[in-house]
Amino acid sequence: MGGQLRFLTCGSVDDGKSTLIGRLLYDSQLIMDDQLAALALDSRSHGTTGGDMDFALLVDGLEAEREQGITIDVAYRFFSTPRRSFIVADTPGHEQYVRNMATGASNCDCAIILVDARKGVQTQTLRHSLICHLLGITSVVLAVNKMDLVDFDQARFAAIVADYRARTAHTPFAQFLAIPMSARFGDTVTRPSPCMAWHDGPTLIEYLETVQPPVAAASAGLRLPVQWINRPNQDFRGYCGTIAAGTVAVGDAIVVPRSGQTSRVTGLIGANGPVNRAQAGDAITLTIADEIDISRGDVLAPATDRPDVSNQLAAHLVWMAAEPLLEGRPYLIQLGTAAELASITAISHRIDVNNGDRVPARALAMNEIGFCNLHLARPIVFEPYAENRTLGSFILIDRFSNQTVAAGMVAYGLRRGTNLAAQPADVSRQQLAAIKGQHPCVIWLTGLSGAGKSTIANIVQRQLTQAGAHSFILDGDNVRMGLNKDLSFSEADRVENIRRVGEVARLMLDAGLIVICSFISPFRQDRAMVRELMPDGEFFEVHVKTALAVAEARDVKGLYARARAGKIPNFTGISSPYEEPDAPELVVDTQVLSAEAAADAIVALISPRLLAAAGSLAAQAGGPPAGPGQNPRS
Ligand code: ADX
Repeated sequence: MGGQLRFLTCGSVDDGKSTLIGRLLYDSQLIMDDQLAALALDSRSHGTTGGDMDFALLVDGLEAEREQGITIDVAYRFFSTPRRSFIVADTPGHEQYVRNMATGASNCDCAIILVDARKGVQTQTLRHSLICHLLGITSVVLAVNKMDLVDFDQARFAAIVADYRARTAHTPFAQFLAIPMSARFGDTVTRPSPCMAWHDGPTLIEYLETVQPPVAAASAGLRLPVQWINRPNQDFRGYCGTIAAGTVAVGDAIVVPRSGQTSRVTGLIGANGPVNRAQAGDAITLTIADEIDISRGDVLAPATDRPDVSNQLAAHLVWMAAEPLLEGRPYLIQLGTAAELASITAISHRIDVNNGDRVPARALAMNEIGFCNLHLARPIVFEPYAENRTLGSFILIDRFSNQTVAAGMVAYGLRRGTNLAAQPADVSRQQLAAIKGQHPCVIWLTGLSGAGKSTIANIVQRQLTQAGAHSFILDGDNVRMGLNKDLSFSEADRVENIRRVGEVARLMLDAGLIVICSFISPFRQDRAMVRELMPDGEFFEVHVKTALAVAEARDVKGLYARARAGKIPNFTGISSPYEEPDAPELVVDTQVLSAEAAADAIVALISPRLLAAAGSLAAQAGGPPAGPGQNPRS
């Protein structure tokens, strides 16, 4: 058979994972003599096995060693028999276990799922089976361990196997074998068990020596996730990363799928110097013929075989945080070498690990597995997990605690994005801004209805226009009469309202304009989402602040009175919340400042962005506004 087999062990705590790994290492004679001597000593003092050697102590001892090293997520243990060599991915606690399975750290050919013969199949057994299935592991051994504690009872073994098979019938494995064993005494691990003569199958090691690893997808196109850019001096720029799939050779045409820009490979540097070709698994530095925009998170691919690019994904998620997953919350997604903001837009269903049923769900609790839609702040390069484990698996990270909260496997890209390639434009946004003599920006006015946002927006635009600057107003009422006339004031529609406006503002920003946005935009997360859409330093959040009582007393449109009378549902401040900004660039309190003074403060805030216009603006300062403002579209 030969070759190398990677496998992992899983199951409930105390099913005997450590003992089994220790037994495999011991029996394959790979334990060094001094470690053995120490083990015999330890077993006598701390062991739970009387005078016998406790193999769990061996593995746990190595674990303690690992804990001193800062962060190693998976410890790999190597051993071999005359027929094959093995890598066991030994994963510590539960959280890391799942995380490492999904990040591809344990890119395993085979899984051993342990069950304690006394306890039988547990929910955790089924959960790990489902995760193995989602991870595409096709060879599974159900190791019914601790048979010595049930008197090597054949009927007990048969009942557990039947139970397991019945409860995993919805996710069958292509290669499945159940083995009764006692890892502690070595029965059916590396030698047949005299106590279980009734077992006519192979020992675990015989199975591992002969199991056929899945054949890796052949002819996959190049996928090189860029990890970092090596720029030691002006003359050299190399893109470094580990090839996730395919091959690359000097002279190949490549594309950066997110931007659509293309170039040609001019050089490849491997671990031992320049090479002409490189393949999946190789860590390389690559140089190209043209100066194009490539950053960490981009993936280099053949121009003729591009991976998917999308900001919307459907994926299986294993939720690992104590607080439940809720739709709409933003997290950091890390996929390959890319990191972006992402939120779950919908939980399609939760999977009941006990029977495989798809259950409707609004939330996922810790350890639950669901199928979800994700929305990313910017498009990402990905592939379905079934096609590429590296570009198909991801983790979600809580931005505040830095905890990994979920592991995910991409099923497919959703709607837009897929099959699209961004078209590069010949004229850059910098050129478009330069001919207008300004640095474009977004001024985002947020506040209660009646706070004075629209009035102030108009004065700001008058001042900017007088100063020769190019601007445009996007106003809540107006946009809701056109682009967003299909949206209500429900929470979900408000999120969509702000998302669309954010996208429009971003387009106008790229066109070189100063965009003045006037929206209640009551939710912090949505404003954060819009901010993330814009380049750094080009977004100015202005809180137009007024006490609710004051806005209500003004009631310019008569809406507060109607809302109080129960005639307008979800009215901000009355029956729907307004979340004040935490750290806006500016607060203008319209109970203290006149609309003109508030506008002056806003123009002063962004005046460094008005290049050519700055002089004339200063000249105008204090003078009366001249000329009519732009009329709203109503
Ligand atoms: S947002 O919450 O989605 O940002 P937006 O700024 O677009 O709101 O629209 C707010 C305007 O819609 C208000 O100025 C008001 O004239 C009108 N409006 C109608 N119904 C509501 C409501 N339920 N809550 C707030 N504003 C409303």
